Amino acid sequence: MGQVIAIDGPAGAGKSTIARNLAARLGYVYIDSGAMYRAVALSALRQGIDLTDEVRLEKLAHAAAIELQQDRRVCLDGEDITDAIREPAVTAAASKVAALPGVRAALVARQQQMAEHSNVVMEGRDIGTVVFPHARVKVYLDADPAERVRRRSGEQPDIAPESLAAHIAERDDRDRQRVQSPLVQAADAIYIDSTGLTALQVEEEILKLC
Ligand code: DC
Repeated sequence: MGQVIAIDGPAGAGKSTIARNLAARLGYVYIDSGAMYRAVALSALRQGIDLTDEVRLEKLAHAAAIELQQDRRVCLDGEDITDAIREPAVTAAASKVAALPGVRAALVARQQQMAEHSNVVMEGRDIGTVVFPHARVKVYLDADPAERVRRRSGEQPDIAPESLAAHIAERDDRDRQRVQSPLVQAADAIYIDSTGLTALQVEEEILKLC
């Protein structure tokens, strides 16, 4: 089993940038677990699978060949889906399929395998609580809601900020309130509020824990 740095938190807290940079600095493998839920959601939408059909979605989560490449590209059954999984419809669907225990079990098992022979920095919602409860370093990364909307607005300038704020709030609510592995800070995770901090400052804080 490799070393694990677990970074959890709500949308727009800065997890991706920080996890990616940390992995590069430490020579660890970067894993975006959210991309796996997004890949399952994209596949479900394309196949017209009802997003509450847990039996079919669980099968899909087991069968889908999801590849997370180190240049951040994501492939599904050999197709590059990097941009497709960032579409708003897929973002909304990902949070719905992520609420299903069968889908989670399938993806969590794969996430655990990824750290069997490698050191990883993995970002998500349940990495420190469920996927790697014994991770060497656990961080719960947060930021003010307004700051999180500002960051996402920069990434998605074609969506009105009010609409983005509503979508983020809805998704965070669903991620926090689901029964299975809700977004919650692990008891032994370090809480970092990234509001007003640069990515570099947050990285330095985390490196002190390593
Ligand atoms: O991090 P993200 O926005 O790409 O995640 C997409 C969705 O997947 C989001 O609604 C939360 C969910 N997710 C999860 O439930 N557990 C994870 N480990 C990662 C993401």
